[in-house]
Amino acid sequence: RNRVVVFISGGGSNMVALADACASPGFPAEIVAVISDKATAGGLARAAERGIATHVFERRSYTGKAEHEAAILDALNALSPDIICLAGYMRLLSGEFIKRHEGRILNIHPSLLPLFPGLHTHQRAIDAGMMIAGCTVHFVTEGMDEGPIVAQSVVPIVPGDTADSLAARVLTVEHRTYPQALRLLAEGAVGMGADGRVERKAYVGDPQAK
Ligand code: GAR
Repeated sequence: RNRVVVFISGGGSNMVALADACASPGFPAEIVAVISDKATAGGLARAAERGIATHVFERRSYTGKAEHEAAILDALNALSPDIICLAGYMRLLSGEFIKRHEGRILNIHPSLLPLFPGLHTHQRAIDAGMMIAGCTVHFVTEGMDEGPIVAQSVVPIVPGDTADSLAARVLTVEHRTYPQALRLLAEGAVGMGADGRVERKAYVGDPQAK
C-alpha cells in the first residue's frame, strides 16, 4: 500500500474522508502521518482519534520560511511517503520542496480550476454569475493552484447562495473526489508525465458528465 502523508491547516474534513477511504478493504493507500502548520487545527484531534500520528510545525517556531520547511522535509524524509496530500493546507511549498516530490503531491482546491484559484473562491464564483461550482484535485506544481488536473466534481450554484452555503455544498463533493483521485494515483491509473501533463488511464469526476 502507498504511504500517504496528509498536510492540513484546519478542520481536516478532507483528511478524514481520505482516512475513511484508506480504512476500507482493498484501498491501495494508507495514511502514515498528518502534518499541520497550526497547533490549533481541528483535524489534529480527528487524526489522533483514528490512530494516525500527528506532527505540528508552527511557522513562528522557526526563524524563517526556509528553516520551517527544512524541519518539515526532515520529518517527511523519515516518513518516506509515496504520496503527499495537501488537504486545506494554507501555505505555499517552495519550488525545491515540490521538485523533490514532483508528481507525488496532490492538492484539493474548492473551485473548478483554472477558474478562481487562490482565496475567496466561492464569493468570486457567485459574483461572476456562475451557475456551477465544484472542486479540483490536481498535482502540485510551482504555480499556485496551477498543476495538472486529476479529478473534478461539479455542484450547482442556486439563488440565494452565500460563500458559506456554497462552500458547504462544494465540501460534500470534495469528500468523494479526493479519495477517488488518491486511488487513481496510488493505483498508477494517473501520473504526471515528463511534459508536466497528466497521463490518464481512467476517467474520474462527475458521473453524470461521463
Ligand atoms: C477545503 O474546502 C479545501 O478545498 C480548501 O480548504 C478547505 C479545507 O477544509 N482548500 C483551499 O482553499 C486551499 N487553497 P478541511 O480542512 O475540512 O478539509
